[in-house]
Amino acid sequence: MTTATKTINVFIADPLSEDGIFPLRQEQDLDLNIIVDTGLAPEELIAKIADVDVLLVRSQTTVTREVIEAAKNLKLIGRAGVGVDNIDLTAATEHGIIVVNAPDGNTNSAAEHTIAMMTSLARHIPQAFNTLKNGKWDRKSYVGVELKNKTLGVLGFGRIGVEVAYRAKGQRMNVMAYDPFLTDERAKELGVTKSTVEEICATADFITVHTPLLPETRNLINKEKFAMMKDGVRIINCARGGIINEDDLYDAIVEGKVAGAALDVFVSEPATDHKLLTLPQVIATPHLGASTIEAQESVAVDVSNDIIKFYKTGTVTNP
Ligand code: NAD
Ligand code: MLT
Repeated sequence: MTTATKTINVFIADPLSEDGIFPLRQEQDLDLNIIVDTGLAPEELIAKIADVDVLLVRSQTTVTREVIEAAKNLKLIGRAGVGVDNIDLTAATEHGIIVVNAPDGNTNSAAEHTIAMMTSLARHIPQAFNTLKNGKWDRKSYVGVELKNKTLGVLGFGRIGVEVAYRAKGQRMNVMAYDPFLTDERAKELGVTKSTVEEICATADFITVHTPLLPETRNLINKEKFAMMKDGVRIINCARGGIINEDDLYDAIVEGKVAGAALDVFVSEPATDHKLLTLPQVIATPHLGASTIEAQESVAVDVSNDIIKFYKTGTVTNP
């Protein structure tokens, strides 16, 4: 455990809530030197990281092996959010660096965003708004579908998937869920139908993914899965780019199998020049699932408190 007399360099590489890092700023027992330096290119981060003890990131910064190897003093990487797919965990482990995340702080915001995207998709709200802003009162092109009595398939039934299901049931949707850890009892308790991926593909009117991006979940929805789906299915991804194969999604929309897709995340971000964005059936947001005042404060408070806990006790809450 590091003593309080040593200066601890905390490098914040992505924009974090100022209220959220308040625990770090007001910490009296530790000598924390807080450096906020965001938007760096990889080589700029590498050049600045040699004396850093704690690196704090959101999702913009990719913490590669090169970054980790250049960070000779690094002890802890804090991820203000859930997904740690932007951090090379193997390299961190090899170098004895602890990685902490904030698993709960943005659950509600991500679930609300998913429901907002699903509703917008069903009712063409972004497209209709865009048309109206351009001076056209077009009521014919934007006839939507109701959510009530439709079936939502949720792939990945963890924190966010469950919260999405609660809200979808409030819209009187039928909910099917797949998660390798979902038990019959839990499914019954939550009022969802425990299903396989294939059953969801064959039955659902809307499919939303809420798994982490892992080797097993990359391309979870691909050409083969689209072929199993009902014509006119609608797809939502507010989890990670890559869980749904983007080329296969593009083809499925162009072929008319998929009626529309709502995407918050892309394989490569920022994704301003993406072929999926050229399709009128696609609505999108720039990775805004966790972008609320509440979630950003919450995740930053959680990682800040974990940093303090680590230096005071040698343990963390969310390794
Ligand atoms: P979580 O860990 O609570 O839930 C993930 C679930 O996925 C777990 O229950 C796990 O068992 C399940 N899972 C793992 N492998 C699976 C597989 N092969 N098939 C089906 N299910 C599988 O995580 P969460 O808080 O619900 O977040 C889920 C993901 O959403 C995060 O990993 C992150 O990438 C993403 N996310 C995105 C935003 C955003 O801003 N768009 C915000 C928060 C989280
Ligand atoms: C997450 O994994 O928590 C999300 O990507 C949200 C974010 O950090 O922007």
